Amino acid sequence: MVKEELKFTIEVYDSSDELNEADAFLLSEARSVTQFAYAPYSNFQVGAVAKLVNGEIVSGTNQENASYPAGICAERSLLSTAASNHPGVAIETMAITYNNLKGESNTPVSPCGICRQTLSEFQNRYKKPIRIILSGMKGKVQIIDNAGFLLPLAFTSEDLK
Ligand code: THU
Repeated sequence: MVKEELKFTIEVYDSSDELNEADAFLLSEARSVTQFAYAPYSNFQVGAVAKLVNGEIVSGTNQENASYPAGICAERSLLSTAASNHPGVAIETMAITYNNLKGESNTPVSPCGICRQTLSEFQNRYKKPIRIILSGMKGKVQIIDNAGFLLPLAFTSEDLK
């Protein structure tokens, strides 16, 4: 038996003021698109904005449904849009934020399990790690260099061979 340790690091910033211009722009756009979320059931508006490797910007928001499981998260909405409108173009960085209309929005939240799985598939498919910026509408910012770190021991297409 051997024990294997899985490790990753994240960068933590006190606020978006500490980010470089490109990252601050993406986060600011993500905060702005939260207004396009359709979240009448949770009142939790999520916004995601990504820069593709060709410089294009793509966004996504959560879109809920009276049949709750039919709703889609902002991250998967973005990934579907990117793959459909910019086929074959990898994502470099994605900023994800939220506006909790019932409470505070000042600490980062990270993607749900289904979105982690979808991010994992996307970056394997495009053979490029996606850099992730996480924050609320204000406050601390976390940056993770590889979305795969969010889903250690992921199930992938390799497992189906
Ligand atoms: N949500 C996202 O859009 N992304 C996540 O990673 C977490 C949750 C949405 C789903 C639902 O519309 C609302 O936030 C509350 O769960």
